[in-house]
Amino acid sequence: MREILPLIRPSLGSTAITLDLDDAVPPLKADPGQIQQIIMNFAINAADAIGGPSGVVTIKTEVTEVDGAYIEQVLAKGQTQPGSYVCLEVHDTGVGMSAETQAKIFDPFFTTNFRAEGWVWPRCPASSGATREC
Ligand SMILES: Nc1ncnc2c1ncn2[C@@H]1O[C@H](COP(=O)(O)OP(=O)(O)OP(=O)(O)O)[C@@H](O)[C@H]1O
Ligand SMILES: [Mg+2]
Repeated sequence: MREILPLIRPSLGSTAITLDLDDAVPPLKADPGQIQQIIMNFAINAADAIGGPSGVVTIKTEVTEVDGAYIEQVLAKGQTQPGSYVCLEVHDTGVGMSAETQAKIFDPFFTTNFRAEGWVWPRCPASSGATREC
């Protein structure tokens, strides 16, 4: 996380970013590039939501105990076993998400961001292996 921070900072403009890391978190078996991509996407979303010149994004890690009730309420049932998990949280001081936005967070094409030049269409792989707009 400490190595990722300098890579993310330039993308956040005037939004500050801070770390709240629990040193008790054990090493993870994970793809560092994917973790970096996740943090980068969350942090840019947060900076977009903050919008103005002052705001803070906080990246927090901790070890958390996940029980059956939590799995039932929050996670995909049957795909997660109870136990100790490393928890990664990204907080921001932005406006938050309305219930309507929250309901669409897993829709890959949902956005509320308008760019000055219009919509920015996502890119997806074409059958040739090149990229095309879709
Ligand atoms: N931290 C946040 N605070 C408030 N709203 C958020 C936050 N993160 C995401 N959102 C809302 O969720 C929508 C979808 O986010 P998502 O990252 O999928 O797409 P995007 O940021 O709009 O576009 P892209 O990531 O493709 O540039 C955003 O447009 C925004 O409305
Ligand atoms: Mg985004």
